[in-house]
Amino acid sequence: MIAAYSASSQARVNAALETLFHAPLPELARLYEAMRYSVMNGGKRVRPLLAYAACEALGGKAEQANGAACAVELIHAYSLVHDDLPAMDDDDLRRGQPTTHKQFDEACAILAGDGLQSLAFSALLDPRLSSLDAAIRLQQVTALAHAAGPAGMVGGQAIDLGSVGLKLDQKALEQMHRHKTGALIEVSVRLGALASGRAEQDELKSLQSYAQAIGLAFQVQDDILDVESDTETLGKRQGADIARGKPTYPALLGLDAAKAYALELRDQALHALRPFDAAAEPLRELARYIVDRRN
Ligand code: IPE
Ligand code: IPE
Ligand code: MG
Ligand code: MG
Ligand code: MG
Repeated sequence: MIAAYSASSQARVNAALETLFHAPLPELARLYEAMRYSVMNGGKRVRPLLAYAACEALGGKAEQANGAACAVELIHAYSLVHDDLPAMDDDDLRRGQPTTHKQFDEACAILAGDGLQSLAFSALLDPRLSSLDAAIRLQQVTALAHAAGPAGMVGGQAIDLGSVGLKLDQKALEQMHRHKTGALIEVSVRLGALASGRAEQDELKSLQSYAQAIGLAFQVQDDILDVESDTETLGKRQGADIARGKPTYPALLGLDAAKAYALELRDQALHALRPFDAAAEPLRELARYIVDRRN
């Protein structure tokens, strides 16, 4: 089920994203090419899938979440372009290809990331991608700005960079992960739910509990894969965290305890979905996928 659901959702978001990279001036061709390169390069599209699945869990049509799906993937892609820069994780490989600053140059990668961040908010407001009430769009923009910014992902990246070489305790590590990765996963679910146009407060609350659990599980699994996968499967350099002295769950708890924790978080996520019917099955499958994935 998840394979077919993923394939159709990936095709939907990729078609929508494709429309966003037309340079309005010949002088901007290289910048737009760098943005396209950073997005249209085979990511798993987990965040768009979550947005679509949340919209459908509440009885909405997936297409209503097209703007949300594009927006969260654009923020994610920008965060990766900047995460890979020499001043941050200094990585050369991403999604099996040279990182944006290697393929273009550093200044171009910085600007491409900046541009993708702005495009994300334009996508959320774009009537060609989804037709939603202004009141819903306002809630979505507010939520995305908070999740992507200094109180969310950017803050998490700052904690990450400030923690190199330190041994964080579990509380501090969890705080870092909830910001750098959890915030964007959480808002992917929220934007999708809002796009359904039928989200009730109690449903949003249950979906938030679900999303918080899988958001943390996602980064725990990312840390596990950095230890036990390989560069070819990952499409990014295996062992990069250890090489850079990053605090991770396997480093803190050991590999087995980190794996057990990921499974516990998955179960918490499934538990949070108990009030939902069969329409939430893609969300349940995604929770299982997040801790079973190999890349
Ligand atoms: C990698 O995210 C970075 C993290 C936040 C852990 P993904 O594993 O979703 O990367 P892509 O989009 O599939 O390349
Ligand atoms: C990245 O975390 C999180 C964001 C980009 C916000 P990582 O640094 O662990 O991601 P990878 O392992 O490079 O994909
Ligand atoms: Mg990083
Ligand atoms: Mg990194
Ligand atoms: Mg990582």
